[in-house]
Amino acid sequence: MTKLITIAFCLVLQAAAAAPVPHGCKGVPPGWKLVWSDEFNYTGLPDATKWDYDVGGDGWGNNESEYYTRADKKNAWVKDGFLYITARKEVKEGRQYTSARLVTKGKGDWLYGRIEVRAKLPEGRGMWPAIWLLPTEDKYGGWPASGEVDIMENVGFMPDSVFGSIHTQKFNHIIHTQTTKGLYVKDPYTNFHVYSVEWSRQAISFFVDGQQYLTFYNSGKGFEEWPFDERFHLLLNIAVGGGWGGKKGIDDAIFPRSMVVDYVRVYQREDVEGKVDSLLQKMTLEEKVGQLNQYNDDLNPTGPVTYAGDNKAKEVSAGRVGSMLNVIGAKNTRRLQEEAMKSRLKIPLLFGQDVIHGYRVTFPIPLAEAASWDMAAIRQSARVAATEAAASGIHWTFAPMVDIARDPRWGRVMEGAGEDPYLGALIARARVQGFQGNGPGSLDAVMACAKHFAAYGAAIGGRDYNSVDMSLRTLWEIYLPPFKAALDAGAATFMNSFNDLNGVPATGNGYLQRDILKGKWHFSGFVVSDWGSIGEMIPHGYVADSKQAAEVAIKAGSDMDMESRCYISNLVSLVKEGKVAESLVDEAVKRILTKKFELGLFDDPFRYSDEKREAAVQNTSASRAVSRQMACKSVVLLKNEGHLLPLSKNIKTIALLGPLMKAKKEMQGFWSFDWGPEDQLISPYEGIADKLGNNTRLLYAKGCGIEDTSRAGVAEAVAAAAQADVTILAVGERQDMSGEAKSRANIHLPGIQEELVKAVQATGKPVIVMVMGGRPLIFNWTADHVPAILFTWWLGSEAGHAMADVLFGDYNPAGKLPISFPREEGQLPVYYNYLSTGRPGKDDSDRFYRTGYIDLVKSPRFAFGYGLSYTDFVYSDLQLSRTEMTPSDSLVVTFTLTNKGSYAGEEVAQLYIRDLVAQPLRPVKELKDFSKVRLEPGESRRLSFTIDKNKLSFYNEELEWIVQSGQFELMVGAASNAIRLHGTFVLK
Ligand code: NOJ
Repeated sequence: MTKLITIAFCLVLQAAAAAPVPHGCKGVPPGWKLVWSDEFNYTGLPDATKWDYDVGGDGWGNNESEYYTRADKKNAWVKDGFLYITARKEVKEGRQYTSARLVTKGKGDWLYGRIEVRAKLPEGRGMWPAIWLLPTEDKYGGWPASGEVDIMENVGFMPDSVFGSIHTQKFNHIIHTQTTKGLYVKDPYTNFHVYSVEWSRQAISFFVDGQQYLTFYNSGKGFEEWPFDERFHLLLNIAVGGGWGGKKGIDDAIFPRSMVVDYVRVYQREDVEGKVDSLLQKMTLEEKVGQLNQYNDDLNPTGPVTYAGDNKAKEVSAGRVGSMLNVIGAKNTRRLQEEAMKSRLKIPLLFGQDVIHGYRVTFPIPLAEAASWDMAAIRQSARVAATEAAASGIHWTFAPMVDIARDPRWGRVMEGAGEDPYLGALIARARVQGFQGNGPGSLDAVMACAKHFAAYGAAIGGRDYNSVDMSLRTLWEIYLPPFKAALDAGAATFMNSFNDLNGVPATGNGYLQRDILKGKWHFSGFVVSDWGSIGEMIPHGYVADSKQAAEVAIKAGSDMDMESRCYISNLVSLVKEGKVAESLVDEAVKRILTKKFELGLFDDPFRYSDEKREAAVQNTSASRAVSRQMACKSVVLLKNEGHLLPLSKNIKTIALLGPLMKAKKEMQGFWSFDWGPEDQLISPYEGIADKLGNNTRLLYAKGCGIEDTSRAGVAEAVAAAAQADVTILAVGERQDMSGEAKSRANIHLPGIQEELVKAVQATGKPVIVMVMGGRPLIFNWTADHVPAILFTWWLGSEAGHAMADVLFGDYNPAGKLPISFPREEGQLPVYYNYLSTGRPGKDDSDRFYRTGYIDLVKSPRFAFGYGLSYTDFVYSDLQLSRTEMTPSDSLVVTFTLTNKGSYAGEEVAQLYIRDLVAQPLRPVKELKDFSKVRLEPGESRRLSFTIDKNKLSFYNEELEWIVQSGQFELMVGAASNAIRLHGTFVLK
């Protein structure tokens, strides 16, 4: 019955021509072809043309307790559209149970593909349902040399956790490599989920319901280490007991138990490589170079326009343009795609756009979202943005920006995830997953672009576009991990960056692009330059002219030229003169064409540009609700003396003051779009008014402008505060004060805003300050004197509503700072994971011949990881599973978190470690894990973190990834400067 409903639902969806094909529906993803499937639309034994039985009792050496039967309807049976594989309590050949093990061997064996199984798992201890890919021929001497891919394993002892893993041998010189990742899956016993794996020459990636959670890369060292370039078959079974299922823990009362399988589908990539090759054969050199050329649409520039006014549409139809950026709306993307269809080979355009924090509905700026430490929410935010943008014909977002930033003078700090590589890597992954959804070709997804490769965030002096000078160890350890995480999550493209790194512009940097990205990391997508950055190698002084710029960039691995015209003007002659090998151009073209094929653009170049879908999916109330929720999660409570917050909804008179109290556009932040009617943006004033209705009298005064030096409005604001029971002030930056090219030397609250705060505070009335902006700001007087402070960043379309939710207690804030807030600019850069000096000083007051300043303490005003709640969390009872470990052990840290306050709330419990003696030096603290949990008042929960070799490893001077034995300090707490529990252990 359920299946019939599902099928009917799918048919309806497919009828709506442009609707995306959700998981669970039959619809071949673009770029793939279905090569094998069983939909189980029959009754009886499993189809003998597709399945065989693996019969017997040896259980692959896993000591399983059952006998696997041959065709036996008690153990494998198809009914009502589902396959039931059943484990039963029945003695056979001396074994206590029977089960079935279905294999496709000889009937379905594939080299590479995408395998999807939609199934419901059996619940029960000692059960071990599994779906595996196994080598059909044993060429390399048995297991694990021949390789094994575990698409889905579920062990009854770890309820709701489903595991994907890979076994192989001699991979990276380790004899038996097993990489396993467990994933929490909601109700796997009562709900169907799609467990899938994508397997190619380069990598094997695992998904649950389209969410990629584990990727394993071919090291490229040849088949000895990578046995997966062979034919494999599928195996479906339920084991009882045995090595992993747990023999002793069999829960006898539960049998029989079935794994219910809705379908098994195997797709293989359409021969994209072949199609790309055959298209390439037909292309002239000029047409190839055209594919590497990207133009801006002049109406909406996001950089200095050097070539406005010329007829780009004509160039498109002449086949001289491969991609456009900043073309807004389905109508416009369609119009330009029509031009591309006039070109000789009709190669579709790719449309790229900076969809950074929302498209039609604006979300909090990325730095604000990072303060949520909530990966599911961040992923969801990117999903909404992708769904909206894709409907406008956008194929590709220039996001996420994964640059680590330690200096808030840099305006683009707003666009990243802050200062920490661990948090930054998790967020990079979540955002790539969110943007790319179910992968290339899905109509609700866009290609992600990890940028800016690399080290752009370390611009000297925090000045945008400036030089970067750093050790390679810092590059690898601090700046590269989020890029690697984006790549592992499947980021389709990378963008290089404006800065030079140690004297070599990133755009012309072969070490970054060829050696690391395309070499060591096996990146198979393409690299786009940043806006004009190929041509900017001339003012850098790295090349003499645009011709040399083109030569250097293509050799260094920049595939697409955004807006500099160096490629379109010079590559043809460079090839003809023999200065650039045509094969280099071909390689770049192939990378770009591959993406166009994967997106399905050669089947239908207009499939994304859909005005109807655009109207249906954009600015929906559901998306606005997601934005509001994300905004609530992004707010950081910096101070709350005397529990001033949350406010009661019955206050008689509230004064709403400050230059941002009625601001709308400012709520959107820098990378947002001007969609017209401002009534879709909620100011703080409107949010509060909506929340309180007519209960409360609201007095309003602006007080001053954002950057005003005039004090004329202050008296009015003071008078309003004097009449009110409570005052709320909204202060901060203008929308364009943080962002690209918006570096500031002075990051104090602009204008006379802090004077306004002072004057209002002098009324003696309770004051709450909300600070808005795109970076850490300095507001020392406010921090010292005002009892309650919320840092609300730029929260997006629903900003005012979210602020009101927090102010009046409908949402208990749980944000934690992803970046340190300085006391003065002179401290910059200030970050938590610094190295100790030889004269460290015990604390801020220990300054005699110690590192620091004579006129300021060295600690930040608000530290990384800091943020309060309306409730109080207490940490206690730290326990370590061992105090000594070897590199092959793992150590489990457990502790109790208790909500001692009177509100339900969430806490982000953080794990830091310090390697006490190491060569080279290690930071005084490194975030290694965290857990965001919600507790009711009075509730306690035991939490745990696992420490393994990887968490203790680092790069040595030779850039080798090593561990060193010795003592480690372990710290658990509420912030990097609020460590509540300490422990130590020794690595032997
Ligand atoms: C320059 C910015 O650095 C980059 O991040 C952005 O994607 C491009 N301009 C396109 O707008």
